Amino acid sequence: MRVVRTIAELKTELSRKKNEGHEIGFVPTMGYLHEAHLRLVDRACQENGTVVMSIFVNPLQFGPNEDFDRYPRDIERDKKLAEERGVDILFCPETKEMYPSPLSVTVQVKEGTDVLCGRHRPGHFDGVATVVLKLLHMVEPSRIYFGMKDAQQVAVIEKMVSDLNIPVTVVPCETIRENDGLAKSSRNVYLSEQERRQAPALYESLVQGAALINEGEDRPEKVIEKVKDMIEAKTDGEIDYVELLSYPDLKPVESIEGRVIIAAALRFEKARLIDNITLEAS
Ligand code: PAJ
Repeated sequence: MRVVRTIAELKTELSRKKNEGHEIGFVPTMGYLHEAHLRLVDRACQENGTVVMSIFVNPLQFGPNEDFDRYPRDIERDKKLAEERGVDILFCPETKEMYPSPLSVTVQVKEGTDVLCGRHRPGHFDGVATVVLKLLHMVEPSRIYFGMKDAQQVAVIEKMVSDLNIPVTVVPCETIRENDGLAKSSRNVYLSEQERRQAPALYESLVQGAALINEGEDRPEKVIEKVKDMIEAKTDGEIDYVELLSYPDLKPVESIEGRVIIAAALRFEKARLIDNITLEAS
């Protein structure tokens, strides 16, 4: 595996691989890698000759009171995990390499951000879209891999790719969970022992909500109420939101039909957890 820190080095390594006729699969991350990131790598390895991973904690997507400074970082461990799993090129730029001067042009996501995490994290998806667009120009991959744990991120990126005619295929990949159902996340390390014990209730509640839909419930407010009640009964966390929307266009629905997402965010003392289920309602 080649570890590169500058865009120039990245381009040199990539042109070598492209000259060999390799298609490039790209897995953007913020590091502190866990099994879910590595499953994206597995998928990218299956579908491409060369796999690029980026590790960059993107300041643009963090709000002023969010955890940018204390976002967990362990680059030596990440390098080892990425190499073992088959990453060919690991791109870990410094902030100055990505943002050498203040940006005068950024991506503004105009739809699908007044719901879910977008509503609670103003500017977050503009920051995500801007960095992903920059990374796409640097790597020029055939395919880019994202996890459905961040379903709104997938929807926003798919829309950007289509609206701006970006020549890449977005590959959404399933949410990877701990044995007890908790979605894997770099932020799970912030949970206290008691919070960690309570955390699986987030997913269990979403599963109950999905079961209600599968039994024929078509009123969104009934499903939301069930999910909220269950999270409140089983955790001491504070609910940021429980929402039910159409997917991927993320619009409120009057009656549940077609593809929908039930998503929730739960705030514990030092970690905010998100999770979702998408399903096809008949
Ligand atoms: P990060 O949170 O590091 O996540 C990198 C990728 O891993 C994202 O596509 C995310 O959805 C996926 N992922 C994380 N946990 C997952 C899980 N439990 N199951 C499936 N996939 C999971 O998302 C970001 O970084 C950033 O916003 C980024 C896209 C890199 C832009 O800065």
